[in-house]
Amino acid sequence: MTLEVIILAAGQGSRMRSSTPKVLHLLGGKPLLQHVVDAARSLEPSAVHVVVGHGAEAVQEAMAGNALNWVEQTEQLGTGHAVLQALPALGADSTVLVLYGDVPLVSSAVLQQLVDAAQQSPALLTAVLEDPSGYGRVLRDAQNRFRAVVEHKDASPDELVVTEVNTGILAAPATLLQRYLPRVGNSNQQREYYLPDVLSLSVADGIAVCTASVADPLEVLGVNDQLQLSRLERELQRQRAEALLISGVRLADPARIDIRGELTCGRDVFIDVNCVFTGDVVLGDGVHIGPNCVISDSQIAAGSEVCAMSHLQQARVGDSCHVGPYARLRPGTELAAGARVGNFVETKKARIGAGSKVNHLSYIGDCEMGEGANIGAGTITCNYDGVNKHITRIGDGAFVGSNATLVAPVEIGSGGFVAAGSTITREVPTAELAVARGKQRNISGWQRPGKKNKD
Ligand code: UD1
Ligand code: CA
Repeated sequence: MTLEVIILAAGQGSRMRSSTPKVLHLLGGKPLLQHVVDAARSLEPSAVHVVVGHGAEAVQEAMAGNALNWVEQTEQLGTGHAVLQALPALGADSTVLVLYGDVPLVSSAVLQQLVDAAQQSPALLTAVLEDPSGYGRVLRDAQNRFRAVVEHKDASPDELVVTEVNTGILAAPATLLQRYLPRVGNSNQQREYYLPDVLSLSVADGIAVCTASVADPLEVLGVNDQLQLSRLERELQRQRAEALLISGVRLADPARIDIRGELTCGRDVFIDVNCVFTGDVVLGDGVHIGPNCVISDSQIAAGSEVCAMSHLQQARVGDSCHVGPYARLRPGTELAAGARVGNFVETKKARIGAGSKVNHLSYIGDCEMGEGANIGAGTITCNYDGVNKHITRIGDGAFVGSNATLVAPVEIGSGGFVAAGSTITREVPTAELAVARGKQRNISGWQRPGKKNKD
């Protein structure tokens, strides 16, 4: 059996009230459509076709690199019409799974079940909802066999009380879609070609439709407006927080953490409130993250502590380091074991050697620092001459006094000593002291200016 997936994503999503196409809105840091594509991919289909219309270019650009087959639907005439556009691309003996770009949290297990059920006859995924309003209702005959889906807008009062709804997700042999889709009409309230009508047409021809119902309706909730999106986001974050707790991570409050990517944690990790993780973040054993930290695409090794209000982006922090509070580690920052970067320190493309300390109010950019160096408060590496960036090298055990400016390219030899307030423009040789500042003069007998007499 060959499996092909069709994802419907041509609708405008007008209720989002946004210029971004609906399927590109982010959920857990990832576009809605990417969630659906990932779920589809997990079934290893031979092809994934995506039907686009509104904002097609933006959608294709955002999803580049996914190896998708794009199908254009120039006019949005309904879900049936959308699938019809993809029919010519399908192989004759494929099984087809139809997914919606705005239903992002469906699990691959549920989809696999549906596909397995759809080898000969069509299979529809349904859900029982407390509040079914807005959804198409599933109608059954006296023997409880599937009969049809009726849209909310077309339903009679009797049909509206049905709580079993069409999730929109269905699987069917390609031949069946090819036979029945062209016969679907649009004589309904919305003048649309409804995809579920292929199912009632098959039933009329004596082909039974099997249904599977999801245990957790959250899997099939759609995103039609910002309110629904925010609810799904909270739900997804709750799931991610619970998975972390189960895996042994200690969270100060599972309701106050946001994971917008992949967070991998070792043993005995603690994360305080209001932290945001984006991209791929790895926290080693015993790592402690203080409150209100934002950490993106970074690795923090065992035993390190990141204190409150710190921001890390593409940084690598070694074992037993101390970062923050209020530290900003920009891309290319690498701290070796036991290094310390303290409050109001910004680093960028900086290798800070084992046990070195930059504890207060500094900018360290384009810098190679050895082991056991000590950088005083207010030290600035002047890495930019207005055109090019230059490197500052600081040797093992160097000591840079407070408020020094190191004008790159420049090197401070190991054990070199820079007097506070110096502006260093030339190499400081190994173990020498550099003093580069105005000499202090004390003027004895100096008189303070007096107040002028008023005329
Ligand atoms: C649809 C179902 C309804 C079901 C509900 C579940 C139909 C007729 N109705 O209703 O039974 O309960 O989903 O969420 O199928 N789309 C296109 N082209 C179009 C129209 C829609 O690509 O011409 C896409 C949309 O972008 C969206 C999906 O199809 O991803 C569903 O369309 P939408 O208009 O949201 O359908 P619903 O009214 O929610
Ligand atoms: Ca919808």
